[in-house]
Amino acid sequence: MLEVKGLEGGYGDFKILQGVNLKVEKSTITCLLGPNGSGKTTTLNTIVGLLKPWRGTIKFEDIDITGIETHKIVEMGISLVPEGRRIFGEMSVIENLQMGAYLKSARDKMRDRLEYVFSIFPRLKERQGQKACTLSGGEQSMLAIARALICNPKLLMLDEPSFGLAPKLSIEILSILKRLRDEEGITILLVEQNIHLAGMIMDYGYLLLQGVTIAEGTFNDLINDSRVKKAYLG
Ligand SMILES: Nc1ncnc2c1ncn2[C@@H]1O[C@H](COP(=O)(O)OP(=O)(O)OP(=O)(O)O)[C@@H](O)[C@H]1O
Ligand SMILES: [Mg+2]
Repeated sequence: MLEVKGLEGGYGDFKILQGVNLKVEKSTITCLLGPNGSGKTTTLNTIVGLLKPWRGTIKFEDIDITGIETHKIVEMGISLVPEGRRIFGEMSVIENLQMGAYLKSARDKMRDRLEYVFSIFPRLKERQGQKACTLSGGEQSMLAIARALICNPKLLMLDEPSFGLAPKLSIEILSILKRLRDEEGITILLVEQNIHLAGMIMDYGYLLLQGVTIAEGTFNDLINDSRVKKAYLG
């Protein structure tokens, strides 16, 4: 569904991505692993067109989307849950969800889309009138995911949705992603720091180190890979 080849990019003159290669197959969960500063967020932001790729190609459903504007990429069916969640704290839960409806198709079907995300996150339904900044960390993470689902994406990309959460809540968030894959067939590209948490749900993974995807495989392949051990344990 998504194929990234030889991707290079960065900020200003500062090259961060030095060769990112990855594939995400339909209805699977693919994890992008890597230590702090390895370029995980830069990779996702480049895929959705928030950063201009310098070299390489990005294909989505066999269509070349390299360098295309973000709104067009969203229209094609890719949604990003950004690092740090970026919810609108002063707005209510429901207003945040309405802000997620960038696409006319989502606005036209708002009632159905809300019903759908509330079925996945009943806790948000109970709290729909509450100001987002007063939600707990776990609920804020759920809201960020729900907002990305409003547009009915084919590919959901998440940048550390469990950041800062207690293990129990992280597991709850990851099991929701698993459900989205198993029950809805949604395709997921997940950035996760914790390789063991990622291992609970991932079908395939890549290790990013200094802007290069240096290892790939199933969870078992990866945890037994000396480069992965070195990256995580020093
Ligand atoms: N706006 C920016 N301008 C310049 N350099 C940046 C900018 N944002 C990130 N960087 C640099 O790019 C590199 C990769 O950052 P990135 O945020 O992609 O890493 P990451 O793998 O997501 O890390 P983390 O796990 O901490 O979120 C880092 O060295 C960072 O300092
Ligand atoms: Mg990051």
